[in-house]
Amino acid sequence: MAFIFIMEKSTITTYLDQNKERMLNELMELLKIPSISADSKYKGDMLKTAEAVRQRLIEAGADKAEICPTKGHPVVYAEKIIDATKPTVIVYGHYDVQPADPINLWDSPPFEPVIKKTETHPLGAIFARGACDDKGQMYMHVKAFETMMKTKTLPCNVKFMIEGEEEVGSPNLGPWIIENKARLKGDVILISDTSMIANDIPSIDTGLRGLAYMEVEVTGASRDLHSGVYGGAVANPIHILCKLIADCHDENKHITIPGFYDDVMELSKEERSEMAKAPFDLKDYQKDLGIEEVLGEKGYSTIERTGIRPTLEVNGIWGGYIGEGAKTVLPSKANAKISMRLVPHQSSEKISKLFQNHFERVAPSSVKVKVTAHHGGEPVVVPIESNGYRSASRAMEDSFGKKPVPTRSGGSIPIVALFKKELGLDSILFGFGLDSDALHSPNEHYGLFNYYKGIETIPLFYKYFTELTTNK
Ligand code: BES
Ligand code: MN
Ligand code: MN
Repeated sequence: MAFIFIMEKSTITTYLDQNKERMLNELMELLKIPSISADSKYKGDMLKTAEAVRQRLIEAGADKAEICPTKGHPVVYAEKIIDATKPTVIVYGHYDVQPADPINLWDSPPFEPVIKKTETHPLGAIFARGACDDKGQMYMHVKAFETMMKTKTLPCNVKFMIEGEEEVGSPNLGPWIIENKARLKGDVILISDTSMIANDIPSIDTGLRGLAYMEVEVTGASRDLHSGVYGGAVANPIHILCKLIADCHDENKHITIPGFYDDVMELSKEERSEMAKAPFDLKDYQKDLGIEEVLGEKGYSTIERTGIRPTLEVNGIWGGYIGEGAKTVLPSKANAKISMRLVPHQSSEKISKLFQNHFERVAPSSVKVKVTAHHGGEPVVVPIESNGYRSASRAMEDSFGKKPVPTRSGGSIPIVALFKKELGLDSILFGFGLDSDALHSPNEHYGLFNYYKGIETIPLFYKYFTELTTNK
């Protein structure tokens, strides 16, 4: 007689195993719709994506799910209230994606998802724009919710707020949350839109940087000039702009704008040595990026340079002739888009003003300089001593078999500071992506391991959060 060993499996794991393929196919379908928020050409696709998300939330078991119009792209809102006396988790995510260009650098079309194995993702990864940022990570929450509904394990209330304008600075979500304060009552905001250190090194971000995004236009002569007839006698706005930009940093890569560091929160020695414990391999980092050496502010490590220090980067620069062949022209205008990442206690508005004053003051009188501010956002820190962080940490510890490391992210999610200010709620940055997943770049991808691990881990967050919040 043979002995039959039956592995004990939780209902959740069994449900996931049985529905894995369908959950992946659904994400692939969602990734086919080009929901590019920045380009008005895709307005119809934005609506189509919002409708698909709404539909999936209803199928997953929401009591109601609606498309809420805004001045820009709509917000998808859904909820499942099981008991008004129980805690409420508010899930935030975004269904919009970055533009896919330069398209010719993609190995497969950005909106025709394919699964390929990579060195980092031996089980395979889905290649498509938005695979990681943020459709893949957002959709894990819809599938985790479905799983809890179908296995009757949802322990608390849940509200979904999925927006379509994160990649353009969330201009309409702020007003929307203010208008909808009453129905956004909850206990914590849960977001998967950040990264972990590696698939075998789980981590949780405890901070996001703020952002001040500027555009500069330098104008010389009132028209483009013959560079032989006038060159040497009239200011060249491209030269002036390049010098203005180069002068923004000194030889230690310190930013030279007066007052820029005034409000920067300096970390204590203890905090810095705590941060330095996070595993980081400079050689791997350089190899992944194809560089021989890193470059950044003197006196700080690479992790500190992106995590706790403010920065200034040119995002784009143009002017003059860039067509085929040669044209001898002394251009009338030069332009640049410049963004600054901010750290706790810096204010986006104040930094924008400092930047503007500085550029207008140092520009020579041979040119005119016009500075305009685009979107901004404030930095945030997530308290580690909170039920939200503890629940996220325990959930990851269970599913990865390792306690996650607290980290600081260099990226920004501008609305998170407003969640705190307007709703009084902390956000838990429960990201499952990797920085090497090429977010915003050609060949963006998301590991199948990460997708499934997220769906498996999220219900554990709900379980711990309900326990911790109820037993107070
Ligand atoms: N999901 C990212 C932010 C992010 C990525 C945080 C990786 C941490 C790790 C988000 O979609 C994003 O790209 N934000 C923009 C800001 C926005 C105003 C365009 C950013 O950080 O540039
Ligand atoms: Mn994102
Ligand atoms: Mn993004």
